[in-house]
Amino acid sequence: MRVTLAKADAVGAKADLLAVPVFAGPELGPGAEEAVAALGAPVAPLLEARGFTGKAGEAATLPTLGRLPATVLLLVGVGERAKVDAEVLRRAAAAVVRQGRGARKAVTTLTQALPADPAAAVQAVTEGALLAAYRFDKYKHAKAGANGAKEPAELASLALVPGQAGRGSGRRKALAAALAAGQMRAAATNLARDLSNEPANALHPADLAAAARKLLAGKGVTVKVKDEKALAAEGFGGIIGVGQGAEHPPRLIELRYAPKGASGEVVLVGKGITFDSGGLSLKPADSMRTMKTDMSGAAAVLATMSVLADLDVGVAVTGYLASAENMPSGRATRPGDVLTMKNGKTVEVLNTDAEGRLVMADALALGAAAKPDAIVDVATLTGACAVALGNRYSGLMSNDEALAAELLDAAAEAGEPTWRLPLPPEYRKDIESDVADLKNVGDRYGGALFAGLFLEEFVDDRPWAHLDIAGPARAESEDGYLSKGSTGVAVRTLLTWLERRSAR
Ligand code: BES
Ligand code: MN
Ligand code: ZN
Repeated sequence: MRVTLAKADAVGAKADLLAVPVFAGPELGPGAEEAVAALGAPVAPLLEARGFTGKAGEAATLPTLGRLPATVLLLVGVGERAKVDAEVLRRAAAAVVRQGRGARKAVTTLTQALPADPAAAVQAVTEGALLAAYRFDKYKHAKAGANGAKEPAELASLALVPGQAGRGSGRRKALAAALAAGQMRAAATNLARDLSNEPANALHPADLAAAARKLLAGKGVTVKVKDEKALAAEGFGGIIGVGQGAEHPPRLIELRYAPKGASGEVVLVGKGITFDSGGLSLKPADSMRTMKTDMSGAAAVLATMSVLADLDVGVAVTGYLASAENMPSGRATRPGDVLTMKNGKTVEVLNTDAEGRLVMADALALGAAAKPDAIVDVATLTGACAVALGNRYSGLMSNDEALAAELLDAAAEAGEPTWRLPLPPEYRKDIESDVADLKNVGDRYGGALFAGLFLEEFVDDRPWAHLDIAGPARAESEDGYLSKGSTGVAVRTLLTWLERRSAR
């Protein structure tokens, strides 16, 4: 789908669909007033009959019967006028894209529903529309919209009508930049979705490294890859221990973005388990079905870094993708085995299905050794986090109040719900091992916290935050701008956070 800034005024635009905002009430918003007037008939009774009140999430289509150049008028509920924010607009834009399925061209005045910040509105509508238009159909013969396919094609284009805010070349430039930012953020998120939706037989750790090389070429990011020999020689016992049961060996992929005159140094670490069978502590069949997405953290870090140069981020970023396939075999790590990690700590592996923390620990130790200003890791780490917070909220754990606050803020702005969980010092004793420095599992309850406490042992007291995305990494149904499958969660939080850090 193509998103553009329109020149023409909305009501006069030729299109299949004209989408206009309606506030709670219902109270017709920018563009809606004119459009409804052009229809030349009262719409209030019809809206009432349909139960349309202008609440966010509601949508109503009206045929224009030749009264407007657009064939269909789509009224999109955006809720109370004073409560319209970026997330409301992202979701409203998604409604336009979903209602527009099968149509070619839509025009919208949704971008005028937040007059206090027209640029933020343009960015949000662009982002929401492009996220909603995402599909993973590379393995389908019957593509959406093709003859014989079950689903209609996505909207081909969406034109944003800026209204007053687009008058004058300076203002128009600002809106064009906002549109580009929205496109970049959506493209990065959709890239993470693509990687994470890719089946595990098509994306082994070496393929992830190759994908990083290919996708980051020309994006101002250099890529270095440690193969299994280098990893073993350099003491990455966690990554080797997790990967040794698989036919396809592990990789540690280092991504480096270093803008001129960088205003700080941060490290991002992503969990890149290309398939998590559980290893010898084998998962039950049903729990394994979605485990190709166990590299969503790595996908998020890779995708985030793919647009740092385009977004002109001024912070230097080193990304580590800790990648392995967790498989059972005669060579696999056994429960009871002891691994020596990159920072020298020893770990008794009591459950080979708690593999994420083992690969993350090595990468965190390496990242912390460079003494960055902040370390943020992203991982589909524990089912327990999904049990605690459900499948929309990410869990955030951190040893640093300021960093935690920054990330919660960025997540809220990005529309990626995130909730802080504690790292209780009184639970630390539960990851002590009888035979090694640590064990890789804690108590049955509070599983997300033990994983967090475990990771904390590897950050050398640097300011660090851990995002457990086990719940929101996937969506099991279409919702707002999320499509079924991988969501690309954390990309937009990280981008917002990095942009803010470079601005300060
Ligand atoms: N990849 C899983 C966590 C997961 C579960 C992600 C469900 C997404 C959906 C992780 O490697 C895992 O298996 N964790 C175990 C840890 C336990 C053995 C301590 C878990 O959550 O059960
Ligand atoms: Mn596991
Ligand atoms: Zn896992």
